[in-house]
Amino acid sequence: MTNVTRLFWQDTTVFDGTQELPEPMAVLVRDGRIEALQPMKAFEATAVEGYTLAGSGGVMTPGLVDCHTHLVFGGNRADEFEMRLEGASYEEIAKAGGGILSTVRATREASEEALFDKALPRLQALIDDGVTTVEIKSGYGLNVADELKMLRVARRLGEALPVRVVTTLLGAHALPPEYEGNSDAYIDLVCNEMIPAAVAENLVDMVDVFCEKIAFSVAQCERVFQAAQAHNLSIKAHAEQLSNLGGTAMAASYGALSVDHIEYLDDAGIAALRQAGSVAVILPGAFHTLRETQLPPIQALRDAGVPMAVATDCNPGSSPLFMPSLMLNFACTLFRLTPREALAGLTAHGAQALGQNELGRIAEGAIADLCVWNIQRPAELAYAVQPGRLRQRLFQGKLSHGY
Ligand code: NIG
Ligand code: FE
Repeated sequence: MTNVTRLFWQDTTVFDGTQELPEPMAVLVRDGRIEALQPMKAFEATAVEGYTLAGSGGVMTPGLVDCHTHLVFGGNRADEFEMRLEGASYEEIAKAGGGILSTVRATREASEEALFDKALPRLQALIDDGVTTVEIKSGYGLNVADELKMLRVARRLGEALPVRVVTTLLGAHALPPEYEGNSDAYIDLVCNEMIPAAVAENLVDMVDVFCEKIAFSVAQCERVFQAAQAHNLSIKAHAEQLSNLGGTAMAASYGALSVDHIEYLDDAGIAALRQAGSVAVILPGAFHTLRETQLPPIQALRDAGVPMAVATDCNPGSSPLFMPSLMLNFACTLFRLTPREALAGLTAHGAQALGQNELGRIAEGAIADLCVWNIQRPAELAYAVQPGRLRQRLFQGKLSHGY
């Protein structure tokens, strides 16, 4: 169906991805994009042929953009949850061959079909909470075949459900056991085989690394970025999560779209992000789950004008939390973001962290991914943790939830 005109018509409060608009606005959607955004009065006077979706009250936001997830994985790590409750640390568990490597074993064993079946309800949970765009990383295969298997599942998920999936190759997530003591050779594999193979099958949109003592050094991550850029892929990094290695400044110097976690980020890292225009992705779910005490430098990021995105980081270890609206609450209660900043973090800034400026906004020309919520003020989304408040959801201009 081309050139179908639809009216989306609500006397709702509109949060446009950055701020609450001063008066109720109506939205005209044509061919999956926002064609016009007008005050209700002016809009009522405009005669437009098409389907009208009417209602009153509520709050309209852009569809949520979850810019950092590890949604595809085998098994689960409830046993490690119990070990941590008894005092073991995330790093100790990782060093003993658990952690990410335990999920690698389960993911390698799982068929593509089984991984898909497990991931589908997780993704559906995000969608039911308002997500219209989700980034999904590999990183639990750690060899060419199993990394590609994960990325294929991610692509298929985007075809199966009304959601946009952006895929990220995270080959440099952990050192697989077969490369023990030989991490540079594993980085060779990521650069020379994994990235080209993923590109050849059109499975990858971006490349990520885990820059940390329990993962890869700054120099190793830099090599991965060089390989990614040789294939014209955007880059991002997990950095300064458990310690400060300086991965952020290095990633920013390569023009990273975002640097994620950043609890241990210092002033030099913040300056580098500002200069590069990179997004700081904060992940309060991992902070909460790991019972971190080091807070990311929110005030300094705010003072520097670095855009902050918020994401679930949903994964079986550090953030088994599949509820973006809970992250809004955590971002405010744990990190002291304002509700407006948190919501911008899951909309406009989340989209920016994916290099997608047509998403996460209610603005003329933007893709018409929209949510209407049964609340009175945008701040309520962060204030209460209450599933079931999504009234309507439009994905590319089409109603996919509500009526
Ligand atoms: O974003 N920091 C590294 N990677 C993931 C955790 C993955 C896992 O524990 O399985 C994260 O927290
Ligand atoms: Fe992560």
